[in-house]
Amino acid sequence: MAATETQLRNTYRFMAPMVRSALSPRDITCAMFKGDFRLSLSQGEQRKHAYVLDELRITEDSLFLDVGFGWGSLLEAARERGAKAVGVNKETGQVRFARSLGLNVVEGSYRDFLTVNNPVQFDGISCVEAMEHFCGPEDYVAGEQDAIYGDFFARAAEHLVDGGRMYHQSMVLGKDVPRFDDISTDAPPFSREYIAAKVMEFYPGSWPPESVDQIIRAAAPYFDVLEVDNGTADYIETMKRWSELWRPNTRTILPILSLAAKALLDPNIRKRIGLLRQGYNRQCFEKGVLELSRILFQKKSDVFKPENAANIASYLSGKLSGMGLPDIGVDSTDELLDTVYSGDNAILYVHKNTGKVLVLDKIPGIVSANPESARLWIHGKRWEETTQLYTEAASKDLNSRDFWQSWSRQFWRG
Ligand SMILES: C[S@@+](CC[C@H](N)C(=O)[O-])C[C@H]1O[C@@H](n2cnc3c(N)ncnc32)[C@H](O)[C@@H]1O
Repeated sequence: MAATETQLRNTYRFMAPMVRSALSPRDITCAMFKGDFRLSLSQGEQRKHAYVLDELRITEDSLFLDVGFGWGSLLEAARERGAKAVGVNKETGQVRFARSLGLNVVEGSYRDFLTVNNPVQFDGISCVEAMEHFCGPEDYVAGEQDAIYGDFFARAAEHLVDGGRMYHQSMVLGKDVPRFDDISTDAPPFSREYIAAKVMEFYPGSWPPESVDQIIRAAAPYFDVLEVDNGTADYIETMKRWSELWRPNTRTILPILSLAAKALLDPNIRKRIGLLRQGYNRQCFEKGVLELSRILFQKKSDVFKPENAANIASYLSGKLSGMGLPDIGVDSTDELLDTVYSGDNAILYVHKNTGKVLVLDKIPGIVSANPESARLWIHGKRWEETTQLYTEAASKDLNSRDFWQSWSRQFWRG
Protein backbone atom coordinates (compact mmCIF):
# COMPACT_ATOMS: atom_id res chain seq x y z
CA MET A 1 0.00 0.00 0.00
CA ALA A 2 1.21 3.49 -0.80
CA ALA A 3 2.12 5.92 1.98
CA THR A 4 -1.08 7.47 3.34
CA GLU A 5 -1.68 11.19 3.67
CA THR A 6 -1.11 10.90 7.43
CA GLN A 7 2.22 9.15 6.90
CA LEU A 8 3.30 11.79 4.37
CA ARG A 9 2.24 14.53 6.77
CA ASN A 10 4.33 12.87 9.49
CA THR A 11 7.31 12.76 7.17
CA TYR A 12 7.17 16.27 5.79
CA ARG A 13 5.09 18.73 7.74
CA PHE A 14 7.36 19.33 10.73
CA MET A 15 10.15 20.57 8.43
CA ALA A 16 7.97 23.19 6.74
CA PRO A 17 9.35 26.24 8.64
CA MET A 18 12.93 25.27 7.81
CA VAL A 19 12.18 24.54 4.15
CA ARG A 20 10.27 27.75 3.61
CA SER A 21 12.77 30.05 5.31
CA ALA A 22 16.12 28.45 4.62
CA LEU A 23 15.78 26.77 1.23
CA SER A 24 15.54 28.68 -2.00
CA PRO A 25 14.32 27.04 -4.14
CA ARG A 26 12.40 24.87 -1.68
CA ASP A 27 13.36 21.50 -3.14
CA ILE A 28 13.77 18.69 -0.66
CA THR A 29 15.38 16.40 -3.22
CA CYS A 30 18.76 15.83 -4.80
CA ALA A 31 20.23 18.87 -6.54
CA MET A 32 21.97 18.59 -9.90
CA PHE A 33 25.62 19.37 -9.36
CA LYS A 34 26.81 16.79 -11.87
CA GLY A 35 29.93 16.63 -9.73
CA ASP A 36 30.57 20.38 -9.80
CA PHE A 37 30.48 21.05 -6.07
CA ARG A 38 31.59 24.64 -6.50
CA LEU A 39 27.91 25.35 -7.14
CA SER A 40 25.80 26.47 -4.21
CA LEU A 41 22.83 24.34 -3.20
CA SER A 42 20.49 26.92 -4.74
CA GLN A 43 22.42 26.79 -8.02
CA GLY A 44 22.32 22.99 -7.98
CA GLU A 45 18.55 22.97 -7.51
CA GLN A 46 18.05 25.64 -10.18
CA ARG A 47 20.22 23.67 -12.54
CA LYS A 48 17.93 20.69 -11.97
CA HIS A 49 14.87 22.81 -12.78
CA ALA A 50 16.47 24.12 -15.96
CA TYR A 51 17.53 20.63 -17.03
CA VAL A 52 14.06 19.17 -16.40
CA LEU A 53 12.15 21.94 -18.13
CA ASP A 54 14.59 22.14 -21.07
CA GLU A 55 14.58 18.40 -21.62
CA LEU A 56 10.79 18.25 -21.38
CA ARG A 57 10.79 21.12 -23.91
CA ILE A 58 8.57 23.26 -21.71
CA THR A 59 7.89 26.67 -23.23
CA GLU A 60 5.25 29.32 -22.74
CA ASP A 61 2.83 27.25 -24.81
CA SER A 62 3.26 24.11 -22.74
CA LEU A 63 1.09 22.35 -20.25
CA PHE A 64 3.33 20.80 -17.59
CA LEU A 65 2.54 18.40 -14.74
CA ASP A 66 4.65 17.79 -11.62
CA VAL A 67 3.65 14.69 -9.66
CA GLY A 68 4.46 15.03 -5.95
CA PHE A 69 5.48 18.69 -6.16
CA GLY A 70 6.57 19.17 -2.54
CA TRP A 71 6.77 22.88 -1.84
CA GLY A 72 6.13 23.76 -5.48
CA SER A 73 9.48 25.14 -6.68
CA LEU A 74 9.57 23.29 -9.98
CA LEU A 75 6.02 24.43 -10.70
CA GLU A 76 7.12 28.00 -10.05
CA ALA A 77 10.07 27.60 -12.41
CA ALA A 78 7.71 26.33 -15.13
CA ARG A 79 5.37 29.21 -14.48
CA GLU A 80 8.27 31.65 -14.84
CA ARG A 81 8.72 30.29 -18.36
CA GLY A 82 5.11 31.22 -19.03
CA ALA A 83 3.97 27.59 -19.14
CA LYS A 84 0.76 26.38 -17.61
CA ALA A 85 1.94 24.34 -14.67
CA VAL A 86 -0.21 21.86 -12.78
CA GLY A 87 0.77 19.85 -9.71
CA VAL A 88 -0.71 16.90 -7.92
CA ASN A 89 0.23 16.06 -4.35
CA LYS A 90 -1.20 13.89 -1.62
CA GLU A 91 0.07 15.94 1.35
CA THR A 92 -2.53 18.54 2.25
CA GLY A 93 -0.20 21.08 3.92
CA GLN A 94 1.97 21.30 0.81
CA VAL A 95 -1.12 21.70 -1.35
CA ARG A 96 -2.33 24.57 0.83
CA PHE A 97 1.09 26.22 0.64
CA ALA A 98 1.24 25.87 -3.17
CA ARG A 99 -2.20 27.43 -3.45
CA SER A 100 -1.03 30.36 -1.34
CA LEU A 101 1.60 30.92 -4.07
CA GLY A 102 -1.17 30.99 -6.69
CA LEU A 103 -0.09 27.66 -8.17
CA ASN A 104 -2.57 25.45 -9.92
CA VAL A 105 -2.56 22.24 -7.90
CA VAL A 106 -4.73 19.23 -7.24
CA GLU A 107 -4.92 17.55 -3.86
CA GLY A 108 -4.74 13.77 -3.87
CA SER A 109 -2.84 10.85 -5.27
CA TYR A 110 -1.68 10.71 -8.87
CA ARG A 111 -3.98 7.68 -9.08
CA ASP A 112 -7.06 9.83 -8.52
CA PHE A 113 -5.88 12.51 -10.93
CA LEU A 114 -4.54 10.49 -13.85
CA THR A 115 -7.76 8.62 -14.63
CA VAL A 116 -9.76 7.84 -17.74
CA ASN A 117 -12.20 10.57 -16.77
CA ASN A 118 -9.53 13.24 -16.97
CA PRO A 119 -9.23 14.44 -20.57
CA VAL A 120 -6.08 16.51 -20.09
CA GLN A 121 -2.91 15.63 -21.94
CA PHE A 122 0.31 17.27 -20.79
CA ASP A 123 3.30 18.27 -22.90
CA GLY A 124 5.68 17.11 -20.20
CA ILE A 125 5.51 15.36 -16.83
CA SER A 126 8.01 15.22 -14.00
CA CYS A 127 8.06 13.05 -10.93
CA VAL A 128 10.90 13.96 -8.60
CA GLU A 129 11.35 11.53 -5.71
CA ALA A 130 7.69 10.77 -5.21
CA MET A 131 7.87 7.15 -6.40
CA GLU A 132 9.54 6.20 -3.10
CA HIS A 133 6.09 6.66 -1.56
CA PHE A 134 4.08 4.69 -4.12
CA CYS A 135 4.84 1.35 -2.45
CA GLY A 136 5.25 0.30 1.14
CA PRO A 137 7.63 -2.37 2.49
CA GLU A 138 4.83 -4.94 2.28
CA ASP A 139 4.51 -4.34 -1.50
CA TYR A 140 8.22 -4.96 -1.88
CA VAL A 141 8.04 -8.19 0.08
CA ALA A 142 4.95 -9.32 -1.85
CA GLY A 143 6.59 -8.54 -5.21
CA GLU A 144 3.93 -5.95 -6.07
CA GLN A 145 6.24 -3.12 -7.06
CA ASP A 146 6.44 -3.97 -10.78
CA ALA A 147 2.66 -3.83 -11.13
CA ILE A 148 2.28 -0.60 -9.13
CA TYR A 149 5.00 1.22 -11.07
CA GLY A 150 3.68 -0.20 -14.36
CA ASP A 151 0.29 1.27 -13.53
CA PHE A 152 1.88 4.64 -12.73
CA PHE A 153 3.71 4.77 -16.06
CA ALA A 154 0.58 3.66 -17.96
CA ARG A 155 -1.35 6.53 -16.39
CA ALA A 156 1.42 9.03 -17.10
CA ALA A 157 1.67 7.89 -20.74
CA GLU A 158 -2.07 8.22 -21.23
CA HIS A 159 -1.85 11.82 -20.08
CA LEU A 160 1.14 12.77 -22.21
CA VAL A 161 0.94 13.99 -25.78
CA ASP A 162 2.47 11.74 -28.42
CA GLY A 163 6.25 11.96 -28.13
CA GLY A 164 5.95 13.88 -24.84
CA ARG A 165 8.68 13.42 -22.28
CA MET A 166 8.81 12.53 -18.63
CA TYR A 167 11.59 13.22 -16.13
CA HIS A 168 11.81 10.71 -13.34
CA GLN A 169 14.06 10.95 -10.31
CA SER A 170 14.01 8.43 -7.52
CA MET A 171 16.03 6.80 -4.79
CA VAL A 172 16.55 3.10 -5.48
CA LEU A 173 18.09 0.33 -3.43
CA GLY A 174 21.87 0.26 -3.70
CA LYS A 175 24.13 -2.69 -4.42
CA ASP A 176 24.99 -3.09 -0.74
CA VAL A 177 21.47 -2.99 0.63
CA PRO A 178 21.09 -5.53 3.45
CA ARG A 179 18.61 -8.40 3.31
CA PHE A 180 15.14 -7.10 4.12
CA ASP A 181 14.75 -9.41 7.12
CA ASP A 182 18.03 -8.21 8.63
CA ILE A 183 17.01 -4.54 8.66
CA SER A 184 16.47 -3.67 12.31
CA THR A 185 17.17 -0.98 14.88
CA ASP A 186 18.51 -3.83 17.04
CA ALA A 187 21.39 -4.26 14.60
CA PRO A 188 24.74 -2.74 15.67
CA PRO A 189 24.59 1.07 15.52
CA PHE A 190 25.69 2.49 12.17
CA SER A 191 25.67 -0.91 10.46
CA ARG A 192 23.88 -0.91 7.11
CA GLU A 193 21.03 -2.89 8.70
CA TYR A 194 20.66 -0.23 11.40
CA ILE A 195 20.81 2.89 9.23
CA ALA A 196 18.34 1.36 6.77
CA ALA A 197 15.94 0.73 9.68
CA LYS A 198 16.33 4.35 10.79
CA VAL A 199 15.53 5.64 7.30
CA MET A 200 12.45 3.40 7.29
CA GLU A 201 11.36 5.08 10.52
CA PHE A 202 11.68 8.45 8.83
CA TYR A 203 9.58 7.41 5.81
CA PRO A 204 6.70 5.37 7.25
CA GLY A 205 4.72 3.41 4.67
CA SER A 206 7.34 3.96 1.98
CA TRP A 207 9.87 1.76 0.22
CA PRO A 208 11.93 2.70 -2.85
CA PRO A 209 12.14 0.84 -6.16
CA GLU A 210 14.63 -2.02 -6.02
CA SER A 211 16.70 -0.82 -8.98
CA VAL A 212 16.91 1.50 -11.97
CA ASP A 213 16.23 -1.56 -14.08
CA GLN A 214 12.96 -2.13 -12.29
CA ILE A 215 11.82 1.42 -13.10
CA ILE A 216 12.86 1.13 -16.74
CA ARG A 217 11.17 -2.27 -17.04
CA ALA A 218 7.93 -0.91 -15.59
CA ALA A 219 8.00 2.04 -17.99
CA ALA A 220 9.08 0.01 -21.03
CA PRO A 221 5.64 -0.68 -22.53
CA TYR A 222 5.00 3.06 -22.75
CA PHE A 223 8.33 4.89 -22.71
CA ASP A 224 11.72 4.83 -24.40
CA VAL A 225 14.70 5.82 -22.29
CA LEU A 226 16.62 8.86 -23.53
CA GLU A 227 19.07 9.25 -20.66
CA VAL A 228 19.96 7.52 -17.40
CA ASP A 229 22.17 9.06 -14.77
CA ASN A 230 23.35 8.02 -11.34
CA GLY A 231 23.15 11.03 -8.98
CA THR A 232 24.39 9.33 -5.81
CA ALA A 233 27.45 11.60 -5.39
CA ASP A 234 25.23 14.63 -5.96
CA TYR A 235 22.85 13.42 -3.27
CA ILE A 236 25.61 12.97 -0.71
CA GLU A 237 26.68 16.55 -1.41
CA THR A 238 23.09 17.84 -1.28
CA MET A 239 22.67 16.24 2.14
CA LYS A 240 25.92 17.75 3.38
CA ARG A 241 24.58 21.16 2.42
CA TRP A 242 21.29 20.44 4.20
CA SER A 243 23.12 19.48 7.38
CA GLU A 244 24.66 22.98 7.42
CA LEU A 245 21.16 24.43 7.78
CA TRP A 246 21.16 23.43 11.44
CA ARG A 247 23.83 26.06 12.11
CA PRO A 248 22.07 29.19 13.34
CA ASN A 249 22.39 32.24 11.10
CA THR A 250 20.04 35.01 10.04
CA ARG A 251 18.12 32.73 7.69
CA THR A 252 17.92 29.72 9.97
CA ILE A 253 17.61 31.11 13.49
CA LEU A 254 13.83 31.57 13.41
CA PRO A 255 12.99 28.15 11.97
CA ILE A 256 15.45 26.49 14.35
CA LEU A 257 13.76 28.18 17.32
CA SER A 258 10.32 27.30 16.01
CA LEU A 259 11.33 23.66 15.54
CA ALA A 260 12.94 23.56 18.98
CA ALA A 261 9.71 24.83 20.57
CA LYS A 262 7.65 22.23 18.72
CA ALA A 263 10.13 19.51 19.62
CA LEU A 264 9.78 20.34 23.30
CA LEU A 265 6.05 19.72 23.13
CA ASP A 266 5.92 16.83 20.69
CA PRO A 267 8.07 13.69 21.12
CA ASN A 268 7.28 12.62 17.55
CA ILE A 269 8.78 15.82 16.16
CA ARG A 270 11.72 15.42 18.51
CA LYS A 271 12.34 11.96 17.11
CA ARG A 272 12.06 13.11 13.50
CA ILE A 273 14.48 15.99 13.98
CA GLY A 274 16.87 13.53 15.64
CA LEU A 275 16.62 11.18 12.65
CA LEU A 276 17.39 14.03 10.27
CA ARG A 277 20.28 15.39 12.29
CA GLN A 278 21.92 11.99 12.65
CA GLY A 279 22.18 11.92 8.86
CA TYR A 280 21.06 8.29 8.41
CA ASN A 281 19.82 9.05 4.91
CA ARG A 282 23.22 10.35 3.85
CA GLN A 283 24.94 7.36 5.40
CA CYS A 284 22.71 5.07 3.34
CA PHE A 285 23.97 6.76 0.17
CA GLU A 286 27.57 6.68 1.37
CA LYS A 287 27.37 2.96 2.25
CA GLY A 288 25.65 1.74 -0.91
CA VAL A 289 22.29 1.05 0.75
CA LEU A 290 20.62 3.62 -1.51
CA GLU A 291 21.40 5.22 -4.87
CA LEU A 292 19.83 8.09 -6.75
CA SER A 293 18.55 7.55 -10.26
CA ARG A 294 17.60 10.14 -12.86
CA ILE A 295 15.84 8.96 -15.99
CA LEU A 296 14.59 10.93 -18.96
CA PHE A 297 11.79 9.11 -20.78
CA GLN A 298 9.99 9.75 -24.04
CA LYS A 299 6.54 8.39 -24.68
CA LYS A 300 6.58 5.70 -27.32
CA SER A 301 4.93 6.38 -30.63
CA ASP A 302 1.24 5.77 -30.82
CA VAL A 303 1.67 2.18 -31.79
CA PHE A 304 0.51 0.16 -28.90
CA LYS A 305 2.81 -2.77 -28.24
CA PRO A 306 1.80 -6.42 -28.06
CA GLU A 307 2.55 -6.69 -24.39
CA ASN A 308 -0.06 -4.00 -23.85
CA ALA A 309 -2.51 -5.96 -25.89
CA ALA A 310 -2.42 -8.44 -23.05
CA ASN A 311 -3.27 -5.65 -20.59
CA ILE A 312 -6.07 -4.42 -22.77
CA ALA A 313 -7.33 -7.87 -23.11
CA SER A 314 -7.20 -8.70 -19.45
CA TYR A 315 -9.55 -5.78 -18.94
CA LEU A 316 -11.74 -7.06 -21.69
CA SER A 317 -11.85 -10.58 -20.46
CA GLY A 318 -13.84 -9.56 -17.43
CA LYS A 319 -16.20 -7.40 -19.41
CA LEU A 320 -17.05 -9.27 -22.56
CA SER A 321 -19.30 -11.96 -21.37
CA GLY A 322 -22.87 -11.37 -22.51
CA MET A 323 -21.97 -8.18 -24.38
CA GLY A 324 -23.38 -9.29 -27.71
CA LEU A 325 -20.35 -8.74 -29.91
CA PRO A 326 -20.76 -7.95 -33.60
CA ASP A 327 -20.61 -10.76 -36.10
CA ILE A 328 -17.42 -10.07 -37.99
CA GLY A 329 -18.10 -12.81 -40.51
CA VAL A 330 -14.72 -14.40 -40.78
CA ASP A 331 -15.04 -17.64 -42.66
CA SER A 332 -11.77 -19.23 -41.97
CA THR A 333 -8.92 -18.73 -39.62
CA ASP A 334 -6.68 -18.26 -42.68
CA GLU A 335 -7.88 -14.68 -42.86
CA LEU A 336 -6.58 -13.96 -39.40
CA LEU A 337 -3.07 -12.80 -38.85
CA ASP A 338 -2.18 -12.91 -35.20
CA THR A 339 -3.92 -13.65 -32.03
CA VAL A 340 -3.14 -10.73 -29.83
CA TYR A 341 -5.09 -12.13 -26.99
CA SER A 342 -6.84 -15.30 -26.10
CA GLY A 343 -8.81 -15.28 -22.89
CA ASP A 344 -11.75 -16.97 -21.29
CA ASN A 345 -14.35 -14.83 -22.97
CA ALA A 346 -12.83 -13.45 -26.11
CA ILE A 347 -10.10 -13.69 -28.67
CA LEU A 348 -8.59 -10.67 -30.40
CA TYR A 349 -7.05 -11.02 -33.86
CA VAL A 350 -5.52 -8.67 -36.34
CA HIS A 351 -6.98 -9.28 -39.81
CA LYS A 352 -4.47 -10.27 -42.45
CA ASN A 353 -5.57 -7.90 -45.19
CA THR A 354 -7.24 -5.02 -43.47
CA GLY A 355 -5.26 -4.61 -40.27
CA LYS A 356 -8.55 -4.48 -38.40
CA VAL A 357 -8.76 -5.93 -34.99
CA LEU A 358 -11.40 -8.53 -34.76
CA VAL A 359 -12.93 -9.40 -31.48
CA LEU A 360 -14.56 -12.77 -31.47
CA ASP A 361 -16.37 -14.71 -28.92
CA LYS A 362 -14.40 -17.64 -27.74
CA ILE A 363 -13.88 -20.00 -30.63
CA PRO A 364 -12.48 -23.28 -29.49
CA GLY A 365 -9.45 -24.65 -31.20
CA ILE A 366 -7.78 -21.48 -32.46
CA VAL A 367 -4.34 -21.21 -31.08
CA SER A 368 -2.28 -18.09 -30.65
CA ALA A 369 0.06 -17.25 -33.52
CA ASN A 370 2.80 -14.67 -33.25
CA PRO A 371 1.84 -11.76 -31.01
CA GLU A 372 5.08 -9.93 -31.75
CA SER A 373 3.78 -8.48 -35.00
CA ALA A 374 0.48 -7.25 -33.65
CA ARG A 375 0.13 -3.51 -33.88
CA LEU A 376 -2.52 -1.89 -31.80
CA TRP A 377 -3.08 1.63 -30.75
CA ILE A 378 -5.61 1.45 -28.05
CA HIS A 379 -5.66 3.03 -24.69
CA GLY A 380 -6.66 -0.21 -23.15
CA LYS A 381 -8.37 0.98 -20.08
CA ARG A 382 -10.79 3.03 -22.07
CA TRP A 383 -12.19 -0.03 -23.73
CA GLU A 384 -13.99 -1.22 -20.70
CA GLU A 385 -16.13 1.86 -20.34
CA THR A 386 -18.55 1.72 -23.19
CA THR A 387 -20.03 -1.16 -25.07
CA GLN A 388 -21.20 1.08 -27.85
CA LEU A 389 -17.84 2.60 -28.64
CA TYR A 390 -16.23 -0.71 -28.11
CA THR A 391 -18.48 -2.37 -30.66
CA GLU A 392 -17.82 0.41 -33.14
CA ALA A 393 -14.09 0.35 -32.50
CA ALA A 394 -13.92 -3.37 -32.92
CA SER A 395 -14.84 -3.08 -36.58
CA LYS A 396 -12.53 -0.18 -37.47
CA ASP A 397 -9.09 0.03 -38.88
CA LEU A 398 -6.67 0.12 -36.00
CA ASN A 399 -3.94 1.59 -38.12
CA SER A 400 -5.95 4.73 -38.68
CA ARG A 401 -4.59 7.25 -36.26
CA ASP A 402 -7.37 9.69 -37.16
CA PHE A 403 -9.98 7.22 -36.18
CA TRP A 404 -8.45 6.54 -32.83
CA GLN A 405 -7.91 10.17 -32.08
CA SER A 406 -11.52 11.01 -32.82
CA TRP A 407 -12.64 7.94 -30.95
CA SER A 408 -10.57 8.93 -28.02
CA ARG A 409 -11.91 12.48 -28.06
CA GLN A 410 -15.43 11.15 -28.29
CA PHE A 411 -14.71 8.94 -25.34
CA TRP A 412 -13.31 11.76 -23.26
CA ARG A 413 -16.34 13.89 -23.94
CA GLY A 414 -18.67 11.04 -23.06
C1 LIG B 1 10.48 13.76 -1.42
S1 LIG B 1 9.08 14.75 -1.72
C2 LIG B 1 9.61 15.55 -3.24
C3 LIG B 1 8.98 16.89 -3.43
C4 LIG B 1 9.42 17.65 -4.68
N1 LIG B 1 9.23 16.88 -5.88
C5 LIG B 1 10.85 18.13 -4.58
O1 LIG B 1 11.65 17.80 -5.46
O2 LIG B 1 11.17 18.84 -3.64
C6 LIG B 1 7.84 13.61 -2.28
C7 LIG B 1 6.53 14.27 -2.66
O3 LIG B 1 5.65 13.31 -3.24
C8 LIG B 1 4.36 13.51 -2.70
N2 LIG B 1 3.62 12.24 -2.87
C9 LIG B 1 3.85 11.07 -2.25
N3 LIG B 1 2.99 10.12 -2.67
C10 LIG B 1 2.20 10.70 -3.60
C11 LIG B 1 1.12 10.25 -4.40
N4 LIG B 1 0.68 8.98 -4.32
N5 LIG B 1 0.53 11.12 -5.25
C12 LIG B 1 0.95 12.40 -5.31
N6 LIG B 1 1.97 12.89 -4.58
C13 LIG B 1 2.59 12.06 -3.71
C14 LIG B 1 4.63 13.91 -1.26
O4 LIG B 1 3.54 14.50 -0.62
C15 LIG B 1 5.79 14.88 -1.47
O5 LIG B 1 5.31 16.14 -1.85
